[in-house]
Amino acid sequence: MEEEKLEALLQETRVFQAPEGFRQQANVQSTAVYAEAENRLEFWAKQADRLEWFERWSTVLEWNSPFAKWFVGGKLNAAYNCLDRHVKGWRRNKAAIIFEGENGDSRVLTYQDLHREVSQFANVLKSLGVQKGDRVTIYLPMIPEAAIAMLACARLGAPHSVVFGGFSAEALRDRINDAQAKVLITADGSNRRGGVYPLKANADAALNGAGSIEHVVVVQRTGGQVSMQAGRDIWYHEAMSNASVVCPAEPVDAEDMLYILYTSGTTGKPKGVVHTTGGYMVGVSATHEMIFDLKEEDVYWCTADVGWVTGHSYIVYGPLANGATVLMYEGTPDYPAKDRMWQIVEKYRVSILYTAPTAIRTYMKWGAKYPESRDLSSLRLLGTVGEPINPEAWIWYHKYIGRERCPIVDTWWQTETGMIMMTPLPGITALKPGSATVPFPGIKVEVVDKDGKPVPKGSGGYLVVSEPWPAMLRTVYGDPDRYVSTYWNRWPGIYFTGDGAKWDTDGYFWVLGRVDDVINVSGHRIGTMEVESALVDHPYVAEAACIGKNHEIKGQAVAAFVTLKEGTEVKDGLVEEMKAHVTAKIGAIARPDDIFFTAELPKTRSGKIMRRLLRDIAEGRTLGDTTTLADASVVNALKEKYADEA
Ligand code: WTA
Repeated sequence: MEEEKLEALLQETRVFQAPEGFRQQANVQSTAVYAEAENRLEFWAKQADRLEWFERWSTVLEWNSPFAKWFVGGKLNAAYNCLDRHVKGWRRNKAAIIFEGENGDSRVLTYQDLHREVSQFANVLKSLGVQKGDRVTIYLPMIPEAAIAMLACARLGAPHSVVFGGFSAEALRDRINDAQAKVLITADGSNRRGGVYPLKANADAALNGAGSIEHVVVVQRTGGQVSMQAGRDIWYHEAMSNASVVCPAEPVDAEDMLYILYTSGTTGKPKGVVHTTGGYMVGVSATHEMIFDLKEEDVYWCTADVGWVTGHSYIVYGPLANGATVLMYEGTPDYPAKDRMWQIVEKYRVSILYTAPTAIRTYMKWGAKYPESRDLSSLRLLGTVGEPINPEAWIWYHKYIGRERCPIVDTWWQTETGMIMMTPLPGITALKPGSATVPFPGIKVEVVDKDGKPVPKGSGGYLVVSEPWPAMLRTVYGDPDRYVSTYWNRWPGIYFTGDGAKWDTDGYFWVLGRVDDVINVSGHRIGTMEVESALVDHPYVAEAACIGKNHEIKGQAVAAFVTLKEGTEVKDGLVEEMKAHVTAKIGAIARPDDIFFTAELPKTRSGKIMRRLLRDIAEGRTLGDTTTLADASVVNALKEKYADEA
């Protein structure tokens, strides 16, 4: 854990009280909610009434540590809760999704429209043989069809596995194979800064070696030329034109799988995090309504991609379960100009904005003149997620975007937690820039020492969750042992988050970042092992070690130390070639910023790579403790070679 960063954070003493006007209209106005939620199971049982159940559950929680069943015996359908129950009432003509394309095209789907398209697409999937329990992989840009595809799967009880559109063909293939998906839903391409990213071509490459896929449904988005394989590939719009709009929602068990979402861990192989239906829907609906203070009139915009958990929980399932109007934007924030985000806020009168610290730091770098040139008076609440926010970025967000009127909810959670776990409640929680404040009602988060004992206030340690929660992951797909060993083995019965944190004397939590071999690049998780395996796959590479290096905008960037095979010459262009190799194996998000060649890697006498030393070298710091190093000359050589570059 980085002590300097921690000390800097804890010197942050500014406190922002919720504005009186906000408090008076807030969905949660009294701290009594925390006391009420001390009876955790009763609290969650009450929250379950937010949903419509086909059959009521009998037991709130069956905890066979570390395996949980929530709302045992209940039957429901996630898509039904997001659509049908709204369509029965006045919300049928309310905007569900407002879509803004990168090129400025736009489209509004009311709840009725969305209900119709989802039902039709569920029928298309059925006609392709998709049944309850079958897995469907979704590889789409940020277009309404992504939400439609997810909800259509949910309607049939077929778990989806969304793969972020920026992942490479190989990464897509691995995820299809792990899930043994039957159908793949993709698009011809996606619009990216005026160009086109070739999704279908990637999908074709991925399918060479992904035998479980029987059919591919292709959404036409860019109109570019793609090859369609007869008998396997069909166009979305053609299939939809013949599909019936009637498709009853399949009742599923509360514990039936809603989706798999792959995330990076400490090995080279991504984990398929499994979320089920009942507890997850209760968790995301409750948190979304209370944390974002959702009102019927709000225009809610979460800038995440549906390929990440934030898109699943807080673009699709949480907001739509709550009948919200959700804005979806296809493109990049600087296209055609650096005021694009603020132009969109102005155009649609966005009232709630949920984004990432990386994005905020980027806008900060571009300058306040962009937001200042637009009318942002519609905003009333701001949120952040994905990585620790530095107080400077927090203050900038507060001042230039929130114009000092809007509370900021800094929300801490993970793919595995499914729902927000620590956060302010904007009407009642005093805010400290850089702190995700306190656990959500009914959630027990703690900071513990290496023996799993809670540390006193004012100290740091490992961040854990010590009681089960409704939206928790249930297992790792196909690998329950990995579920147990990754999350529950360090201290039995306690969930280890992989993060380090400190809690201060007021009981506020300060998350410091990962303490495992995971790098958080722009809020995206990358396993050091994944990048290392990609590099070692290159014919010239003998050995590789990756670390996360501090980065002003991205939070962390990947830096790689590479040992070449005997006899390999470091030629011009080799660094670029290796970076491109990682992009091809995983995707551009994993591309190292720096590659350092070294004759050897610094290792302990037992052969463990000393990443801490590599981090010091990459960041140009004086070296920490080197006493356990087997061969000191290795580090000296590295230092001499790279001291100037870092
Ligand atoms: C980090 C994203 C500090 C953390 C929802 C966590 C945060 C990882 C915050 C999960 C926050 C997320 N403050 N750190 N508000 N939110 N993180 O699975 O390290 O993509 O473990 O889920 O992001 O990333 P994931």
